[in-house]
Amino acid sequence: MKEKARKISRRVFLEIFGKISVIMALMVQAFGAIKAFLPQVLYEPPSRFKIGKPDDFSEGITFLSEYKLYIFREDNDFHVVSAICTHLDCIADWKPDEKEFFCSCHGSVFSEEGVNLTGPAPRPLSWHPLALSPDGNLIVETGKQVSNEYKFSI
Ligand code: FES
Repeated sequence: MKEKARKISRRVFLEIFGKISVIMALMVQAFGAIKAFLPQVLYEPPSRFKIGKPDDFSEGITFLSEYKLYIFREDNDFHVVSAICTHLDCIADWKPDEKEFFCSCHGSVFSEEGVNLTGPAPRPLSWHPLALSPDGNLIVETGKQVSNEYKFSI
């Protein structure tokens, strides 16, 4: 009698185990099928975008915090320097008195041209190319880099 009860419970256990296994296998397949219908895209900001009309920028340096960019204007010449420190991506501040960029996170200092002078930053700040859109706006391409002698003239 006791042995019969054990056989029944094993049968019940195997039935339940089998059903759970089938249900789990179906759920995994259903999850994969549903996931296949979801778009596999990265929602990153665009690397090419308008920053405004040239006349929106006064002579000297303008910081665009939204884009983490410094816009330099000398008459009709422009260039763009990234404010993102090349050490660990903190924002480097422009110090007009010293004419240097300073990253307060770990003390890296960059020259006006973005060259790393002291601190742990391994590379210069990035310079990005500019273009003029048909509607007269300046376009920055943060996905590309140019030398620190680059100037865009309007
Ligand atoms: Fe700028 Fe470390 S993040 S020095």
